[in-house]
Amino acid sequence: MSGNSLGNLFKITTFGESHGKAIGVVVDGVPSGLKLSDEDIFFELKYRRPGNKYVSTRKEEDKPQIISGIFNGKTTGMPLAILIENKDPMPLHYEEIKHKPRPGHADIAYIEKYGYENWDYRGGGRSSARETVARVAAGAIAKKLLLLNNTIVAGYIKASGDLFIEETPNFDEILCSRESEVRTIKSKEEKLKEIIEKIRKEGDSIGAMVEIIVKNPPKSLGEPVFNKLKSDLAKSLLSIPGVVGFEYGIGFKSYKLKGSEVMDEIYYDGKFRFRKNISGGILGGISTGEDIILRIAFKPTSSINKEQKTIDMNNLKPTTLSIIGRHDPCIAIRGVSVAESMVALTLVDHSMLSGIIPKVKLTDQQSDIIEKRWSEFKEKCM
Ligand SMILES: Cc1cc2nc3c(=O)[nH]c(=O)nc-3n(C[C@H](O)[C@H](O)[C@H](O)COP(=O)(O)O)c2cc1C
Repeated sequence: MSGNSLGNLFKITTFGESHGKAIGVVVDGVPSGLKLSDEDIFFELKYRRPGNKYVSTRKEEDKPQIISGIFNGKTTGMPLAILIENKDPMPLHYEEIKHKPRPGHADIAYIEKYGYENWDYRGGGRSSARETVARVAAGAIAKKLLLLNNTIVAGYIKASGDLFIEETPNFDEILCSRESEVRTIKSKEEKLKEIIEKIRKEGDSIGAMVEIIVKNPPKSLGEPVFNKLKSDLAKSLLSIPGVVGFEYGIGFKSYKLKGSEVMDEIYYDGKFRFRKNISGGILGGISTGEDIILRIAFKPTSSINKEQKTIDMNNLKPTTLSIIGRHDPCIAIRGVSVAESMVALTLVDHSMLSGIIPKVKLTDQQSDIIEKRWSEFKEKCM
């Protein structure tokens, strides 16, 4: 019950701390026969990596090493471990917070639960979003496996500050937001850059809404009644540090809608379809085969360059804290990749539970189909 693992048949366990030697993930339940390389994992990691002026300035190469579960370039069906070294930790930046828990971060909650003497204050240790690099590494495998059914997961920043993209853009635009420094669609990139630039100069931060679309999801994923697809997606997405809201389909807009406004027509064109896909691809907790449409809210980053009030742990007296160090002015920019990964991991697990992705072994033909689609997927947007 340690809470470091996720999934039933496709199970991940992440390990490592922000300023420890390395971060990593063990993925158990990858079927044998999947072609997989360090480069495949890096392809996804690079979209989460810090390194441009709109995100944290921490310089991490994020070069992954697959250290088990591979033979002759293919998975063996055995636990697959991936290691990513921490190259640029700066523990000195955290000397002040050693005695001053950051309001808005996980510090005080970890101190209370695990003890002040055991608290890894260097970047928040395990509660740091550095852990999410391991999720994206596992997510790369999940995204590859989903291609067996031609399923693709892609997200973008839909709203932040006074930017709000009302209509869901077309899927290719969403997918290609991965090339954007601020992780939104091309036509809104400049606007979002202005927002982030301004907020960074003010030493402040801003929240955001991210929309994730799953194209060509298999139908019939999700189990009644507690392992619904929607419940598992909510769990996966809300486990991302800094995520404070989840919705799918019409979501929180429901409060102002009438039943007559959200009626959807079922029709048949060789399979059952929905005219408007109002339910966001999930009904009764089971996927309908229509695109799955999810939205999450990221809070404004709590570590900002403004004085904050807290408690000095040495004397329990009020004190102030000025946070130095490298922080994301908008978590969502790098958070989109993490969110895509969590959705992909959940979908693969459910696809295995439903028998849509083999649990044990891929045939040569399946392996070749995945590899061909993966190359096409990587080349998109170049
Ligand atoms: C990709 C990513 C980057 C993040 N970067 C920062 C950061 O630079 N500074 C910060 O205070 N929080 C950052 N966060 C959020 C914290 O990790 C999070 O607020 C903290 O762990 C407490 O968890 P909670 O907000 O879910 O309660 C980031 C989150 C993600 C997903």
